[in-house]
Amino acid sequence: MPYMAFLCLLLLVSLLLSSPRTITEAKVSAVIVFGDSSVDAGNNNFIPTIARSNFLPYGRDFVGGKATGRFSNGRIPTDFISEAFGLKPTVPAYLDPAYNISDFASGVTFASAGTGYDNATSDVLSVIPLWKQLEYYKEYQAKLIAYQGSATANETMKEALYVMSLGTNDFLENYYTMPGRSSQYNIQQYQDFLIGIAGGFIEKLHGLGARKISLGGLPPMGCLPLERTRNVFGSNDCMESYNNLAVDFNKKLEALTVKLNKDLPDIELVFSNPYYVLLQAIKKPSLYGFDVTSTACCATGIFEMGYACNRNSLFTCTDANKYIFWDSFHPTQKTNQIVSGYVVKNVLSQFL
Ligand SMILES: *[C@@H]1O[C@H](CO)[C@@H](O)[C@H](O)[C@H]1NC(C)=O
Ligand SMILES: *[C@@H]1O[C@H](CO)[C@@H](O)[C@H](O)[C@H]1NC(C)=O
Ligand SMILES: *[C@@H]1O[C@H](CO)[C@@H](O)[C@H](O)[C@H]1NC(C)=O
Repeated sequence: MPYMAFLCLLLLVSLLLSSPRTITEAKVSAVIVFGDSSVDAGNNNFIPTIARSNFLPYGRDFVGGKATGRFSNGRIPTDFISEAFGLKPTVPAYLDPAYNISDFASGVTFASAGTGYDNATSDVLSVIPLWKQLEYYKEYQAKLIAYQGSATANETMKEALYVMSLGTNDFLENYYTMPGRSSQYNIQQYQDFLIGIAGGFIEKLHGLGARKISLGGLPPMGCLPLERTRNVFGSNDCMESYNNLAVDFNKKLEALTVKLNKDLPDIELVFSNPYYVLLQAIKKPSLYGFDVTSTACCATGIFEMGYACNRNSLFTCTDANKYIFWDSFHPTQKTNQIVSGYVVKNVLSQFL
């Protein structure tokens, strides 16, 4: 079959000529994560803080039913994002001694539940501040160079997708709860203060070699069960003021990405917004197969998270897939899969 052989040869030649370049250019080598409980895979297990979730029923739907320190019944958004890029199905925590640089070479999270952009936010529960997460990243770079050699490590760091997911705690755990920042700044000024920190962080990350960066927006934080519980005069509906604040802050984050894409050479900074897809699931749960939107699965579902959501909690639901929220502050695995699937399809697909 010389004709078939010729066709095969032609195919091979065209593959050799065209695709390796496109494949390497589009490839994401690793998923590298900074942020709060939305993307912490267990770093807080290894620091002295009460912001923990490494006990059941957390993780009951994770591989092996293991409570890793993820604030959910199963996987978190960055796990799904990593898998969507053909990498590992879970992104391990940097401080977890069960993993080493051979695992972290294709993905690692420096995130810490309870943290925010503001140092004063991470102080509330003594968790890892954002600046410290960047220090850990520098340490990681040195380990990666030792492990892969500088040429390969440079390529890994350049082709990695850097994911940032934080901000909710700056408002809910800090500004509206603690006395300090609210006496110093009005809410507009505080937003601008946080945007300044976000911009400075991205500039530093870019200076360290990062190119593909996803800046995450805020969820509809007024619809978190804990905030609904506080909305006693509004029949426990979503707190509109917090939702409006999230929309406002997200606009500023998006404007920041436009500015930095102009200012920083070769950067590919995208804004990943979970707000509308999550709000739609909350308003039209049946579209996604959910039954319960206003309370969480764990315990009474109205205020418990962390140590208050535990094995002894009465009333914990049996099927978390029917719930949008797992505890009073964090989505279920199913919600995480829906939101990250949406973000991958609509925003991160440019890196696929
Ligand atoms: C990482 O851990 C694995 C298994 O625990 C071990 O085989 C490997 O040598 C370690 N690699 C490095 C670079 O430390
Ligand atoms: C946060 O703390 C670090 C370390 O002390 C410091 O370098 C940084 O400037 C602080 N950030 C702000 C915005 O004050
Ligand atoms: C790796 O990157 C650093 C800084 O960007 C550069 O100084 C160094 O020469 C690079 N090394 C290799 C082997 O490409």
